[in-house]
Order: sequence, then C-alpha cells, then structure tokens
Amino acid sequence: MLPADTRVLADPEAVAIEACRLISAAAAAAITQRRIFRLVLAGGTTPGRIYQRLATSAQQWAAWEIFWGDERCLPADDPARNSRMAQTRWLDHVAIPAAQIHPIPAELGAAEAAAQYAETIRNKQPFDLVLLGIGEDGHTASLFPGRKSQAGAVIAVHDAPKPPAERVSLNFETLRACRQQIVIATGSEKAAALAAWQHGQNLPIAQAVRHDACLLLDTSATRSADFVSPIV
Ligand code: 6PG
Repeated sequence: MLPADTRVLADPEAVAIEACRLISAAAAAAITQRRIFRLVLAGGTTPGRIYQRLATSAQQWAAWEIFWGDERCLPADDPARNSRMAQTRWLDHVAIPAAQIHPIPAELGAAEAAAQYAETIRNKQPFDLVLLGIGEDGHTASLFPGRKSQAGAVIAVHDAPKPPAERVSLNFETLRACRQQIVIATGSEKAAALAAWQHGQNLPIAQAVRHDACLLLDTSATRSADFVSPIV
C-alpha cells in the first residue's frame, strides 16, 4: 500500500518545489521546538533538483544537521558519491557548519564505514526528516530486493545490483526512526515499482516507508497499467 499522503504532481520540477516546501516547513518546526533540524538525504539523481532549490532558499542553516541514508564505496571526492552530489549542488553553497554535515565514510570500505556511521547517528535519532528515493526494482537507500535481512542500525552491502556493489546503508528500522519521511519518485522507469508497491508487494521501499510518509510522484511515475491513481 502507498502512503495515504500520496501526491501526483505535473513533472520533476513540481516535485522538487513541493519537496522543498515540505522540507523548509519541517526545518522551521524542528528548529522552533528543538533548535536543530536533523535531515537524512537520499542519494541517486532524483533529489538533485531539490538540493539545487535548497541552495538558493533562505534557511536558518546554522541549525541544520545533515546525514545520508546510504553511500557508495567510492573515494570521497568521486562524482558518483551521493555525498558529492549534495555537496556540489547545495551544501558547498550554504552556511551549514561543517561539524553538522556527516557524510558516510564509505571510502573506508563497507564494514568499517557502517560501524563508524552507527556511532555517528547513535544519539541523533529520531531524525526530523528522512528523504528517500526508489529504484526501478523497488529498492531504497541501498536496501535491495531479495537480500537477507541484517542486524544493526547501519549495514554493509557487498552485492548491490546497482553499481557499485559495495555500499553502506541505514537499515530499515533506522530509516523509519524519524518524525517525518518524504519519498520522491519521478519518471516512467519507476512506474512498475510503484504499482507493485501499491498492490502490496513487500519491496524494500514498502518495508522502509512509514504509513504516515508523504509520497511525491510526477505523472510519468504513475504511467503503469497497474497503477491506480490516488483519489485527490
Ligand atoms: C543510490 C541511491 C538509491 C537511489 C535510487 C533512485 O545510491 O543510488 O541511494 O537508493 O535513491 O536508486 O535513484 P535515482 O534517483 O537516480 O533514480
């Protein structure tokens, strides 16, 4: 089942605008209540537009604290790193204190990075907001279908079907340990996974996403014969 709060928007830009609006509102509320906004970023390409929009938005950046939901085991400056994408499009352009930006040290190798990141997030939960993407196979973060479940808040992945095979990922429970989740999916290549999720397939995205999450889709992502558009 998809979250009750599923919104179908015109295109990827409209999804980015709505996601930015929701993230800004969550940040304002968290900072008012707790003087800190702890945000977990999604990897991949879909959130790129969101990060670019955030870069030019007016925020209380000194109170933002950034984490990642997963990372690819590549050198820290590799352009294919999830951290590099967010840094070049957004984090390098705003005044979030460096001590409040926590990339996953995946360059150390999956096992060592997972152990260190579990320590990094130990006293940072519940996160205020977790941003999640979805893969064509229904994966999210680096939690892929058909894999044996692992114990631990942060896991090492050695057999990811989406290169690179070596990754680090927050585990299901950790991705759910938050006050709010926003899931973003755009493009027709995601339609089959969304329809399968909607019809009850127990995909990683279905296991990671809370019932009270907000799912933002563009119309292309709903273009599957099996997808039943939510009643708006
Ligand atoms: C990664 C991401 C992954 C991503 C989905 C969607 O490292 O690739 O963490 O989980 O969110 O695969 O990727 P796109 O946004 O590029 O379609």
